[in-house]
Amino acid sequence: MNPIKLKEGIYWVGEVDWELRNFHGYSTQRGSTYNAYLILDEKITLIDSVRPYLYDKMMQRLSSLINPADIHYIISNHVEMDHSGSLPLLTRTAKNATIITSPHGQKGLLAHYKRNDWNFKVVKTDETIALGKKNIKFVLTPLIHWPDNMMSFLIEDGILFSNDAFGQHIASSERFDDEYPLGIIIDEAEKYYANIVLPYSSQVQKAMDLVSPLRVDMIAPGHGIVWRSHVKTIVEEYKKWASNRVDNKCLIIYDTMWKSTEKIANVLQEIFESHGIPVKMTNLRNSHISDIVADVLTTRFICVGSPTLNSNMLPTVAGFLTYLKGLSPKNRIGLAFGSYGWGGQAVGHVEDTLKECGFEMMESIKIQYVPDETQLQEITNKVKQDLLKR
Ligand code: FEO
Repeated sequence: MNPIKLKEGIYWVGEVDWELRNFHGYSTQRGSTYNAYLILDEKITLIDSVRPYLYDKMMQRLSSLINPADIHYIISNHVEMDHSGSLPLLTRTAKNATIITSPHGQKGLLAHYKRNDWNFKVVKTDETIALGKKNIKFVLTPLIHWPDNMMSFLIEDGILFSNDAFGQHIASSERFDDEYPLGIIIDEAEKYYANIVLPYSSQVQKAMDLVSPLRVDMIAPGHGIVWRSHVKTIVEEYKKWASNRVDNKCLIIYDTMWKSTEKIANVLQEIFESHGIPVKMTNLRNSHISDIVADVLTTRFICVGSPTLNSNMLPTVAGFLTYLKGLSPKNRIGLAFGSYGWGGQAVGHVEDTLKECGFEMMESIKIQYVPDETQLQEITNKVKQDLLKR
């Protein structure tokens, strides 16, 4: 349970959650970490904490460096319990600590933990607090990921403690981006953005403007790997993801009952590929929705297929679309397709939901029972014509 040094007098004292596989519906196949950081200065400062079931391990790391009763400031960058969950336990030991948080942070912490005996220092953007030799500047970043979020910037060391922003769900012994495969870190950061941050992309753009004048040498997020060698890379990725810029790619997402909807999916794949548009096929029975939205993040064409079951979409498709709509991706082109027996309502429901997402729609495809070669050729002709207009 050793702390890990970020820079002189600054340590990671969080904990690795090797077992985590589901984070409120987000599939976390690589586990995660809850990153807490300790700054040793005249006023000993702890930034964020861990989930309560890992509190003892965090305290072992802390206790190897300090007497936790001597903590002067606890900075709570985010109220969500994966970061604040240990505060009730911690404040039993760090009795005199002042909790530094945003205005929404104070309201949120009180609403969660009902502790009117806590000392708060509420900060606003650009406010600076002296810890002794070092100073921390605060940047309020509402809705990345809750209204209370803020980032803390340790001025002298250039470390941005960014909480959810720039995070990834990765459990590892390695703490830094030059110790772990960069491709995996970027993939997990992309998945994290798509599942957690995407609905708040306009707030991300504002936050990037606020932090861009800062001399950031290291980004220490609330989850996963610390960025020290690839800071520019992840900042550029965030700018792209926040702008809703997409690549000319196609994602075909479907479920099927008797493989008729799958036949349409396969024809769509051929059509898009024949136009030089790379395709990814995703059968909802085999893929987790949180992995699919990671692909949606950078994909222009989103085709969604469902047969009709009891006047509706298959539940897998309905669940995916509900999740997708909540994440509010922008600037996509949608296509609804599917087979049916008699009612045929599913394709209309898919189309309606994609429209509600704000997607520009291609003409829907709806085939009764099993599509034959003539019908598949008609689909090919129709979609090819539509693609020529895009
Ligand atoms: Fe990692 Fe919004 O909590």
